[in-house]
Parts: sequence; structure tokens; C-alpha cells
Amino acid sequence: MAKGLSDSDLRAFSEYIGKLPPPPEVPMQGLVPERMARGARLTQEHRCASCHGADFSGGKQVARLANQREDYLLQTLKGFQSGERLGYTTAMNETLVGITHEGLEDIAYYLANAPRAKP
Ligand code: HEC
Repeated sequence: MAKGLSDSDLRAFSEYIGKLPPPPEVPMQGLVPERMARGARLTQEHRCASCHGADFSGGKQVARLANQREDYLLQTLKGFQSGERLGYTTAMNETLVGITHEGLEDIAYYLANAPRAKP
């Protein structure tokens, strides 16, 4: 879809999308605390916040993770892990080495429901 777009089209899209409000925070009730804890632990062990920001809101060329759709997060994590999705660098492919399928599911669950860091 992006093939026919000029650089200025791409810039205009990015500026527009970049200014959209962040996704709404998900209410914490009803969440499975064990899954949240496992997801949080894995993101700490694999230092995800070092690139994606302490509250996972992203920055510059690094994507927001907090409160993105869980199914999208899981699909893209599986894609990076299998090498099906290539990034600008191999950072994402390398960072997921050794995480089990259940681990990826917990990470996606945690990030999709991540509580906003309080300012
Ligand atoms: C060394 C820096 C770095 C680390 C560490 C890192 N990431 Fe990333 N991540 C990136 C960059 C850069 C991208 C941008 C996409 C690309 O390269 O295609 C990205 C993209 C992603 C995406 C896709 C977002 C989207 O909207 O498509 C997900 C999901 C993700 N990272 C999750 C994680 C998780 C979970 C961890 C920890 C296990 C992690 N990242 C650790 C740099 C990093």
C-alpha cells in the first residue's frame, strides 16, 4: 500500500498518526495477576524497557507497546522470533531468543494491559 506514496505523503501520515492520542488505559479489574507478573518479569529480564521506554510508550523510531492490541503484539513477537518479520535492525529478533511460546503470550498480555506509569 505504501508503494505509490511520496516522501512528503509518508511524512504527513507519520505526523498525523504520531499526534493521535495514546490508546485508552485498560481497567485492571478482571486481569489474571499471575500472567501480569510473568509478563512483567520477562520484560525486565529481557530489558524491553531499555529501548521501548520505562512505561513502554516508545520514542523516536521505537514503537509504543503499552496498551496495543494483545493479538497484534503476540503476532508480531512470533514473527520477530521466527525471523518472518524483519526489523530495521536485528535487535528485536535477537532479544526474543529463548522465550517460550507461553512466555510470548504472557508478554503480549502484560503489555496490552500495562498500567500507565504515573508522572
Ligand atoms: C535494542 C533495542 C530493543 C529492545 C531491547 C527491544 N526492542 Fe522491541 N523493537 C525495537 C525496535 C527498534 C523496534 C521497531 C521495529 C523494527 O525494527 O521493525 C521494535 C519493535 C517491537 C515490536 C513491534 C511493535 C509494532 O508496533 O509493530 C514489539 C511488539 C516489540 N518490539 C516488543 C519488544 C519486547 C517484548 C521486548 C523485550 C522482550 C523488546 N521489544 C525489546 C527495539 C528493541
